Amino acid sequence: MMEIRNRQEILLHVNGDRRRATVRGSDTLLQVLRTELGLTGAKPGCENGDCGACTVLVDDWPVKACLMLAGDALDRRIETVEGLHNTGTQRAFLEHFAFQCGYCTSGFLMVAEGLRRNRSAAHDLEQIEWLRSNICRCTGYAEILAAVRDALRSEVLKGAGLTLAPAASVPS
Ligand code: FES
Ligand code: FES
Repeated sequence: MMEIRNRQEILLHVNGDRRRATVRGSDTLLQVLRTELGLTGAKPGCENGDCGACTVLVDDWPVKACLMLAGDALDRRIETVEGLHNTGTQRAFLEHFAFQCGYCTSGFLMVAEGLRRNRSAAHDLEQIEWLRSNICRCTGYAEILAAVRDALRSEVLKGAGLTLAPAASVPS
């Protein structure tokens, strides 16, 4: 970890781009993504590690951005929900209407994407275990789970050289 004194310019690798940000040593990754880089998809909820609304991917694994210092994100690959546009995971959430107010949705999308990349053959209990890291206060978890299952199923079929029925295109 690089020690940051006062305010210092750092380079972060976010959604495939190199982005400059001026940060203090105490700034969390969540603060820097939202206020310095304008990536507001990761949401501040509890800011205490409990709700998962701030989840991003770091080197392909879901991480709560409110718990990570920006200085610890140097030389890591960070992905936010903005980088998931038009992916199978996003389509699965749209097709299953796996959201209501949407505040928690970006966090769930990032957990689902992390699961797809790392454990695409995860069984039902393992999927539920992964989703326990995030809280939704207004929709049912059934739709979220159905979306995650579809996202994983399409990945498994892709690995076998097969495809699901064509998905509806994602409105831009
Ligand atoms: S805002 Fe990070 S876990 Fe709730
Ligand atoms: S859709 Fe509203 S908190 Fe989850």
